[in-house]
Order: sequence, then structure tokens, then C-alpha cells
Amino acid sequence: MNTAEVVVNMPPANAMEAGQFIQLDNVFKAYNNELVVMDGMNLDMRADDRLVIIGPSGSGKSSLLRVLMGLEGIQGGDINFHGQPYIKSENNDSKVVSDELHSRVGMVFQHYTLFPHLTVMGNLILAPMKVHGKDKQSCIAKGRELLARLGLEDKVDYYPSQLSGGQKQRVAIARALMLEPELMLFDEVTSALDPEMVTEVQNVMMQLAEQKMAMIIVTHDMHFAREIATRVVFCAGGKIVEQGTPDEVFGNPKEARTREFLDKVLHLN
Ligand SMILES: Nc1ncnc2c1ncn2[C@@H]1O[C@H](COP(=O)(O)OP(=O)(O)OP(=O)(O)O)[C@@H](O)[C@H]1O
Ligand SMILES: [Mg+2]
Repeated sequence: MNTAEVVVNMPPANAMEAGQFIQLDNVFKAYNNELVVMDGMNLDMRADDRLVIIGPSGSGKSSLLRVLMGLEGIQGGDINFHGQPYIKSENNDSKVVSDELHSRVGMVFQHYTLFPHLTVMGNLILAPMKVHGKDKQSCIAKGRELLARLGLEDKVDYYPSQLSGGQKQRVAIARALMLEPELMLFDEVTSALDPEMVTEVQNVMMQLAEQKMAMIIVTHDMHFAREIATRVVFCAGGKIVEQGTPDEVFGNPKEARTREFLDKVLHLN
């Protein structure tokens, strides 16, 4: 695979201060008014952070990412981005209050979400052209450049059904990068892949990390979590139970709940 660097947009220097990038303030989310998945959650993310969210199945990790992507509402609290209102709760519902901030967030999901009737290039250029009004030629040029950097230059005209799982996920990452996000959200992007394809996708994420891309990553792969994270956040029962550097959380967890979780998952690996 071509391991040339992926160029990402660096946030402005003044966004590097703590609390100035993503800030969750007392966020509450429940499904159907009863299943609480975010129970007064507070979280500060710096622009140079790579947060890895870990926690038991059903603890609300995907819900948190979907909220940040504007795909799910919250019922209480606020989310700021760059110190400005991004998502606000009102009357038991919420809305993304800044489309401009919303356009700076990209997401890659566990299951490939490529459009099956479009080629790789068709998938890449759709949103920049239709949503952002960019011209086709510049989108194609940018798409070719990204595909080359992700080792997919020979797949430009392929359809998703002609790609391996790892290739599809790399195309999904390239598609998100086409919109030049400042923050990338990754929800278990390798968990549906065969083991030999996991590495090629994780390598791409490591390249982005080296380029200082701000990321929030949900993964059950504790080895990868330890490698890529600047900060690990352990969630359970709608709350952040513990957070710290990878060495702190994996090497010396303070909370019994964290230790119990890590014991369980590390013995499975
Ligand atoms: N749209 C929905 N409507 C109702 N309940 C939902 C919805 N989406 C998720 N849930 C429930 O909310 C809880 C948290 O789900 P979520 O997918 O956020 O967990 P998760 O931490 O990502 O779990 P996993 O590790 O298994 O992916 C689960 O009990 C789930 O069944
Ligand atoms: Mg999930």
C-alpha cells in the first residue's frame, strides 16, 4: 500500500487550547424517553486530541458519535465547537445550530455506506459537488490525489461491489476527507473486516494521526486504541467513568468498573 502522507487541514492555532475545540456540557440523551445513553455527560476535547472511546456494548458510544455528527438529537445540554454553539437542546429536542461547524465534521461507519450504484470516484465527488457546489474537475483532481495517498489509485472506476472490505473502508475514509473535515469520527470501522484487512485501514488512520487530524474513535481493539489515542475515555451507564492517557487507563486504571471491563476484553483478544 502507498503510505505517502495524507494531507489534512490543521485547525487554527487558537483552537488548540483546552475546551476550545469540542465541548460537551451536561449532555443528556435518552431513547424513547426511557433508555438513557448520555446522562449529564461533560467532555472537553482539544484540537490535537485523538480520543478513543471504549466501553461495554450498548453503553452509548455510537450514540455519542451520531450526536456529534448531527444524526441524533439530545434532550439536554449543549455542545460547543471552537467555543461556539454547535448543537443545542430545546424543548426536549435538539438541533444543529451551525451548518458551517457541521460541515467541518466527517464520519466513517462500521458498515460500508458507499453508494453501490456509483463508482469509487462517483462516491467521492458526489457531496463536494452537490452539497458544496464545487466544480467537477477540481473534485476529480482532489479525489485522485486522495485515492493515490490511500493506495487506491487503480480503483477509481470500480464499483463498491468490486472492492474488498478494507478497500471499501479506505474509500469511505477518502470520501469523508474530500470535505476537508477538521474532526473525523470513526465508529468501529474495522470490526466487520477480515483480520488481514484491519491493518490496511488502521495504517490509514495512523497516517491521519501523524498529520495531527483530530479524531474520535470508537473501537473494541484495545491494542489499536493504545497505539493511536492521546486520550482514552471509558464510558458506561451513560457516564464517563474514567479518562486519561492510554498509559493511565490501560496501565493503571483507577476505577473498579474500568478494570473489570479491561480484564474482560483483554482476555478475549
Ligand atoms: N435509534 C434507537 N432507538 C432506540 N434505542 C436505540 C437506538 N439506537 C441505539 N439504541 C439503544 O441505545 C443503547 C446504546 O446504543 P449504542 O449503539 O450507542 O451503543 P454502543 O456503545 O455503540 O454499543 P456497541 O459497542 O454494541 O456498538 C443500546 O441499548 C441500543 O439498543
Ligand atoms: Mg456502537
